[in-house]
Parts: sequence; C-alpha cells; structure tokens
Amino acid sequence: MKLSVIGCGYLGAVHAAAMARLGHTVVGVENDERRYEALSKGEVPFYEPGLPEMITAEIEAGRLTFTRDIADATDAEVHFVCVGTPQTPGRHAADMTYVNGAIDGLLPVLRPGAVVVGKSTVPVGTAAGIAERLDEHGTDVSLVWNPEFLREGFAVQDTLEPDRIVMGVGPGERGQQAGKVLQEVYADILDTGTPLVVTDFPTAELVKTAANAFLATKISFINAMAELCETTGGDVTKLSEALGHDARIGRRFLNSGIGFGGGCLPKDIRAFMARAGELGADQALTFLREVDAINLRRRDAAVGVVMAWLGGRVVGKRIAVLGAAFKPDSDDIRDSPALSIAEALHVRGADVVLHDPKALANARRKSPQLGYADTVEQAAHGADAVLVLTEWQQFRDLDPAVLGEIVAGKRVFDGRHALDPDRWRAAGWEYKTLGRPHA
Ligand SMILES: NC(=O)c1ccc[n+]([C@@H]2O[C@H](COP(=O)([O-])OP(=O)(O)OC[C@H]3O[C@@H](n4cnc5c(N)ncnc54)[C@H](O)[C@@H]3O)[C@@H](O)[C@H]2O)c1
Repeated sequence: MKLSVIGCGYLGAVHAAAMARLGHTVVGVENDERRYEALSKGEVPFYEPGLPEMITAEIEAGRLTFTRDIADATDAEVHFVCVGTPQTPGRHAADMTYVNGAIDGLLPVLRPGAVVVGKSTVPVGTAAGIAERLDEHGTDVSLVWNPEFLREGFAVQDTLEPDRIVMGVGPGERGQQAGKVLQEVYADILDTGTPLVVTDFPTAELVKTAANAFLATKISFINAMAELCETTGGDVTKLSEALGHDARIGRRFLNSGIGFGGGCLPKDIRAFMARAGELGADQALTFLREVDAINLRRRDAAVGVVMAWLGGRVVGKRIAVLGAAFKPDSDDIRDSPALSIAEALHVRGADVVLHDPKALANARRKSPQLGYADTVEQAAHGADAVLVLTEWQQFRDLDPAVLGEIVAGKRVFDGRHALDPDRWRAAGWEYKTLGRPHA
C-alpha cells in the first residue's frame, strides 16, 4: 500500500521505516530542516538502536523516501499523523498546534477514500474534532485513532512486534471499513497473533493516556516508598524486590530513583489532568498531581543529598554528572531528571561537567551553560563528587578503583541504584543514594 507519515521524530521516523519493512511504499513528511536533511541521506537525527540500519535498507530498497512537501503525499491511501504534542509553555495542557497544522496541511492533498490515522498522543475528544473537520472538508476520508506505545530504545522492536494494536474507529459501516484498511496495513503484524482491540475514538485516546498515567503512578508509588525508607531506615531496593514477587503487583516499573522524565510521561499526565479539568472530571485525576509532585521531589532530594555532602555549599565544587538522557539507550533529554539535577547544581554555583554516551549534543543545545566532556574520565577528572544519573550499562560497568585515581574526592551518588555499593566502598569511595539510608 502507499502510505505517508507526517512528522518523522522519535515516533514517526521509526513508524515510517517499519511500515516500509512490512513492504509498503512510504513517504515520510518532515518539516524540520535538520531532521529532513539527515533522514533523506539515510541518517537518523537521533539515537535509536537498529533504526539507522532499517532506514538505510528501506531507502535502498526504494520503499522509503522523505520529503518536506506534503504534496508528495498525495498518492497515499493511508496517512499516519505522528507529530509532537508537547506541553504548552506555562500550562499543563498539550500544545495541539502541530496536530492541527498537520491536518491543515493534509486536507488539500487527501484523495477520496483515503484513511487518516492518528498516532500522536492527544487529549480525549481530539479524534472526534478531527473527524468532523474531515467530514466538513467534503472528501470521503475516514479517521482511525491508533495510539502508539513504543518505548524509546526498543522502538524498532516495539513497532514491529507490539504488545497490542488499538484502533479507535468512527461509527457505522464507514468506521468499520476504515479499521479494515488499517488492519490491512498491519496484516503481517496481526498474523503473528498480536492482540487487536477495536474501540470508539475516546476509548482509543484514553488507552494511551491511561497507560502512561498508570506507569507514572507505579514509579511515583515506589518513590514515595523510598521517602518512607529514608525516614524509617528501610531499603527501597529490597522493598521493590519483595513487592515484585507478588504477581498481582509485578516487578517492572518499580525502580525507585530520581524519577521519570522524557517526552511522554510527564507531559502526558499533565495534559491528562488538564483535559479532565476542561471536561469537569478533574476529581478523577487529582491523584496525578501527587504523582507529578512525588516525581519532581526526587530531583530536589538528589540535589539536597549532594549539597549536604559537600558541606552545604557547592560554589566552585567540581561535580561530574554521568548521564543526560532521561533513560539509557536514548539521546532524548526532554524533561530529563539527570539534566534537571545538573542544571540545579550549576545554578547553585557548582562547576558541573556532564558526560553521556549519546545525549551530549542534545544536552549542549538545551543547556549550554553546563560543562561537557567526551569521556567519563574527562568528566570525572578532579571531581569532588561523581553523580550517576542515567543507568547506561557503561556506567554500571565502571571500575571504581580506576576512577578513584582521577577524582579529587571519592564520593559517588547513585541516582538509579545502578551501582554495587559494596564494590565502590571497597575501592575507598563514599556511596550515597536515595531510599537506602544504610546501603
Ligand atoms: N517518543 C516516544 O517514545 C513516543 C511514544 C509513543 C507516543 N509518542 C507520541 O508521539 C507523538 C510524537 O512524539 P515524538 O517523540 O516523535 O516527537 P518529536 O518532536 O520527536 O517528533 C515530531 C516531529 O514532527 C515534525 N512535525 C511537526 N509538524 C509537522 C508537519 N506539519 N509536517 C511535517 N512534520 C511535522 C517535527 O518537526 C518533529 O520532527 C507525540 O504525541 C508523543 O506523545 C511518542
């Protein structure tokens, strides 16, 4: 089939390449100059394991092209909308400028019978509004809402082998037909037994925001338990382990630390609350305010531990921060706890030097005031404290004896429970973390 993908960022670039991998002919529409230039040369403007190989192969096979001109999508039978829905500056609500802009751009190029598929994460009610706009435009075009659940770092696998496919369709025969067209697009994935859940528009939109609200709640729950461990002398890592053995609870997403970040969970729970408020259902999501607050408190707690450790003042102290990405195997620094802690220590006068295996360029662009180093050793050289804030494997594997030779003070703060405290202490380091006062 002929497909277009509007917006080729973390979601859209992977989706475009994966649809080409399924045998479709795909045009990716991306209006950011830097991203477009890179993608059209077969380069990926961000870090996602396995994606460069897939994009290069699909371009070479002639199934994947990129453009900046939406007119090049005129032939497509199915258009995937994958543009961003960031937080509106100064407000909790999602900024719908890009979704609205993508639909504005699409309307003149839609051919009769085409299907528009929404993949961006949007406030509930958005799909109904877009369907109305498509109808008003007068073309025989249908809408399907098909939220995306991929995880950065595993995006290729998650797109080709998703846990489930959710399709929100409009009423009547037309809605069913549009759903069938999307099932045809995903036929190879569905044939492997991937569960398909067909819903109405609001349910499909809610599945995505509810999933993210649940995951954020689980992380903030264990971080609230970490706060209790700090006051009672408990050990949150043992608590997670023991809770996780209960199959009703499960071990995943029970990792305490400096909290969640990224381009999805923080802004999605805030947008969810904002939308519930607009609909007069704010009470249903009041708890998410607490989830957000617990999460942000962990960043303050980390800054507090480091400040107290260095004598209450960090002016002129050299602090090596290992990690800028919001999680390992990604270069995404959107709402990253690591970067936010680095910035907070810089504001307090510390000489912060940051290293990340993949996110340095993004971090530099976002926070040019910080110091940057190309290697762990350069960052740690002469440091009064080393902070491990993103749990990259190479940080887990660091040799404390070797690193101990180049720092000024052997203090390591483990923001992600990524290190073995005994091993670091044995090499002469002082070790501190959150939620384990006696570790
Ligand atoms: N990143 C993830 O892991 C992930 C996972 C699931 C869902 N989502 C959702 O997917 C959506 C996209 O997220 P993302 O992380 O890919 O964002 P992103 O900002 O990386 O990518 C969006 C891209 O769309 C482009 N764009 C905007 N308007 C355009 C237009 N009219 N025409 C062409 N290109 C346009 C932008 O230049 C940008 O490159 C969001 O709603 C997000 O919540 C993201």
